[in-house]
Amino acid sequence: MLDVLYEWDRLPVPSSPAAFEKKWSRRNDPHCFSGVWRFHDLLPFAPLQQCVTVGEGQTLLHASESVARYAGIRPGRLHLQYEGMNPSGSFKDNGMTAAFSHARLAGATRAACASTGNTSASLALYCSVTRLMKAVIFIGSGKISYGKLSQALDYGALTVQITGDFDDAKARVQEVSKELGNYLVNSVNPFRLEGQKSIMFRVLESLGWEVPDWIAVPGGNLGNSSAFGKAFHELHELGLIKRVPRLAVINAAGANTLHELVEQRGLRWNGGRPNMEVAENYYEEMDAQQQHASTIASAIEINRPVNLTKCIRALEWCDGVVREVDDQQILDAKAQVGAGGMGCEPASAASVAGVKQLVAEGVIGADERVVCILTGHQLKDPTATVAYHTTDQEKFNEVLGCRGVRRATFANRAVALPNNLDEIVKAIKLYG
Ligand code: F0G
Repeated sequence: MLDVLYEWDRLPVPSSPAAFEKKWSRRNDPHCFSGVWRFHDLLPFAPLQQCVTVGEGQTLLHASESVARYAGIRPGRLHLQYEGMNPSGSFKDNGMTAAFSHARLAGATRAACASTGNTSASLALYCSVTRLMKAVIFIGSGKISYGKLSQALDYGALTVQITGDFDDAKARVQEVSKELGNYLVNSVNPFRLEGQKSIMFRVLESLGWEVPDWIAVPGGNLGNSSAFGKAFHELHELGLIKRVPRLAVINAAGANTLHELVEQRGLRWNGGRPNMEVAENYYEEMDAQQQHASTIASAIEINRPVNLTKCIRALEWCDGVVREVDDQQILDAKAQVGAGGMGCEPASAASVAGVKQLVAEGVIGADERVVCILTGHQLKDPTATVAYHTTDQEKFNEVLGCRGVRRATFANRAVALPNNLDEIVKAIKLYG
């Protein structure tokens, strides 16, 4: 694993965050418009003019009263950072713009990734918009939602379906990329994480550079949590913020490696001397039991998170905690997010479900200011949403029952009516 380090004392870093906001008045310049490259001074690994942008990072921090109430936070204190507004519909564009820019600098003609669907959609989009490279994507067969698969196909990526899951696809793409010299854009790529730091820059910008108490983020391959920790650590070192928020990384219970290692087996960064044997032993146990990740939140259905070490570093920097939430909690939280007007895909809702759990435990206080990262758009996975709200018990069981989901607590069921005006009017009066 590589890390991007800067010699800050030789770089022109602004002394005040206001400098970034001024760029907005020059938004007809694409690099000032970009919610990533507006902060180029904080990720200056390439000359700005070489950085590729498709208008990523125009996202929103929304204070949701209904979701706050659901999670047990005082209304006004819980914010949703809606990354589904990115061009490819997920937070991945923040990191892809950075890795893609580096790939271009390196002279790559082919870029590859393994994906649960969002990284591949993002890579495919950058390739098709810019025509600078060919996208090769590896996915586990049957492990990707239709919304995401349709993006890769439409954008013209070479789509390789591997028998197996994400962990298998990730292992193969690394081997293939080595052999063919493809540029790998998975979050093992440190430039991806540089771009993803900007999610936190925008959260702070939206809060007038007041640091929140908590950032809650779903944990899959652990790129976000690693990037967020690095962002806060650097901002603090640079004197741009006075304190760092706490980090809550939320696993799906069916893909809970981080939770198991940190909360059950005591894995810690330990000032740079982590005992990684704890993880190796756990992976051996998983292999012996042929244990595979399994969750409705397919985006985070990952058992061997590539950024594990960087994540435990971030947990130390940000006094972080890890929790796991099951698919029932995830889907109920997702329905609440949707009802609040900002739909998200299942994995994203883990952040809200995790906060609710941490409030119930008394770890997060009702008056604390919390930001949940909604990592992907609602339309990424319509199958899960429709199955949750359906009146068709068979459909429910087929998609969700098999995952241990027993009820759709907040279902909004469609009303089936004959094609008859009187019946329709009667029903609308009754239900509307
Ligand atoms: N949320 C969504 C919507 C995702 O697509 C992912 C990861 C995560 C959360 C987890 O983020 O890896 O930074 O902890 N998706 C990857 C992919 C693995 O291939 O699209 P992380």
